[in-house]
Amino acid sequence: MCGIAFPTDENVIVGLEKADDAGVYKITDDIALIQTVDFFTPVVDDPYWFGRIAAANALSDVYAMGGTPKTAMNLVAFPVKTMALSVLRDIIQGGVDTLKEAGVVLIGGHSIEDSELKYGLSVTGVIHPDRVLTKHGLKPGDRLILTKPLGTGIVNTAIKGGLAPDELVDRVTRLMASLNKKAAELLSGYSVHACTDITGFGFLGHLAEMIAGSPVGAVIYPEKIPVIPGAEEFAAMGLIPGGAYKNREFRESMIRFSDRTGRELQDILFDPQTSGGLLFGVPEEEAESILARLKENQMASASIVGYITADHQGTIRV
Ligand code: CO
Ligand code: CO
Ligand code: CO
Repeated sequence: MCGIAFPTDENVIVGLEKADDAGVYKITDDIALIQTVDFFTPVVDDPYWFGRIAAANALSDVYAMGGTPKTAMNLVAFPVKTMALSVLRDIIQGGVDTLKEAGVVLIGGHSIEDSELKYGLSVTGVIHPDRVLTKHGLKPGDRLILTKPLGTGIVNTAIKGGLAPDELVDRVTRLMASLNKKAAELLSGYSVHACTDITGFGFLGHLAEMIAGSPVGAVIYPEKIPVIPGAEEFAAMGLIPGGAYKNREFRESMIRFSDRTGRELQDILFDPQTSGGLLFGVPEEEAESILARLKENQMASASIVGYITADHQGTIRV
């Protein structure tokens, strides 16, 4: 990255040069630390739910590595001169409630005055050094499974425009606030070859990261992509966040769309997600079993969305 030599040592399992969901550092032969940090400006109007979503999002990178989050610290930038402190209290209450749900303790934090509100957390988790899941390692024949439906960026654009009904606002808010905890726990019982969480680069951007530089390609079934109800209609109305165009531009050369994949679905596949689901690859013979377990555990939209092939290396066919 930009020619800077970062300090490192032999205990770094995942560091900056690998650009994964979180950093991993070996402490003993049995324990490695997983460390990650994430913060952003409000993604919903309700301060409490913004706190919940920010915490679910920050924890997600630990789950994406296959780990168990243990401790967290708050990061707050707050316009104290122009905003009531009760807003901050509600945000932090939301964050704390999600940490409790995750079984994670809050042990510190830092706040500054800023003209623009921002909130997030740094999270530390643990994992066995031999069980770290990274973005790389997908094998031909692996089935790709996605645990949450796509379209949060598009629906949030519609919400900002006042076009989404209340029940959809509620549904998408809860979806973004839902933890990837149970999914990560279930994954640990299977031969998962690679895993990541779907966030700003969108489904295809994150899948492209997983296969870039690997001797494999991917095939995606357009009809198996789980989509938030209404997202396709909003996409047809042109309610596409700017990030979706950037994501398309960045990865277009790796993607081949068939005639079956309409423009709306393409936009959804590039739509930047807030606190999206896990995307992972497992051997074909384990795929139906893990899919059934995910569906039993409140992940009704989970779907086998495609597979990995030794053909067309570095290319995703949709
Ligand atoms: Co991530
Ligand atoms: Co990340
Ligand atoms: Co992150």
